[in-house]
Amino acid sequence: MFSLAGKTAVITGGGSGIGEAISKAFAKQGAEVHIIELDSDRANTLVSEIESSDGKAFGHQCDVSNQEQTTKVMKSISDVSKIDILINNAGIAHVGNIEATSEADMDRLYNVNIKGVYNCILACIESMKSQGGTILNMASIASTVGISERFAYSMTKGAVLTMTYSIAKDYLDYGIRCNSISPARVHTPFVDNFIKKNYPGNEKEVFEKLSKTQPIGRMGKPEEVANLALYLCSDEASFITGTDFPIDGGYIKLNG
Ligand SMILES: NC(=O)c1ccc[n+]([C@@H]2O[C@H](COP(=O)([O-])OP(=O)(O)OC[C@H]3O[C@@H](n4cnc5c(N)ncnc54)[C@H](O)[C@@H]3O)[C@@H](O)[C@H]2O)c1
Repeated sequence: MFSLAGKTAVITGGGSGIGEAISKAFAKQGAEVHIIELDSDRANTLVSEIESSDGKAFGHQCDVSNQEQTTKVMKSISDVSKIDILINNAGIAHVGNIEATSEADMDRLYNVNIKGVYNCILACIESMKSQGGTILNMASIASTVGISERFAYSMTKGAVLTMTYSIAKDYLDYGIRCNSISPARVHTPFVDNFIKKNYPGNEKEVFEKLSKTQPIGRMGKPEEVANLALYLCSDEASFITGTDFPIDGGYIKLNG
């Protein structure tokens, strides 16, 4: 079960955190993994790590918010291998309510978290139409409940959720499944960095507080999200499309 042998998977932001765990899990299950990364050093390190465990991986330096770069990279992959799986995982955060969100913050979050997803799907959809495929978007609990002090981030993740539904409907007849995952807090460099940047000197207390916002009492692990991603992108999930999957330690249903 859950074999990805013979499949090609493209994972954006695949060099760190959740994306890194997905890249490793997919390579372990036999997929040829293409890591799309802003940070090429990170991508290259991970490619070496995967290769040293007999996996197949390639790194591509690319900013997903740049349509020209994204189209070029996706074409270079699809010219050689049929893209079976696209995981739109690259994302950035901004802490603050609307008054603490500048126009530049809005544009920055929009460009990566929304336009980046649009750019990647647009660049792959034509080739997927002829042979089917699976698209998985990294949404967030913020997509449905909003998170306090995360105005711009919640806005972008709401859009990721509705892009998921829209793509699932429009491409159902082409054999393309599109789903999303909505994690609560997962312990990754993304979380460590925003704690360090926004709460200097208070890192330990804030980490504890953020852990307890999940009723289960801790943050998620990247590997837990990767396992769900693996299921959703495998043939075992062939009846699932147009659905969002919270993985949240009880956050949405059990809080309050
Ligand atoms: N960690 C969490 O608590 C959490 C919770 C819910 C959703 N998410 C979502 O999961 C995804 C991954 O989060 P993470 O915590 O693993 O983050 P991370 O910061 O550890 O990793 C994100 C990766 O994306 C890359 N990236 C950023 N901008 C890019 C761009 N423009 N083009 C290409 N690559 C780019 C970064 O270089 C980095 O390697 C994000 O979309 C995030 O919003 C995270």
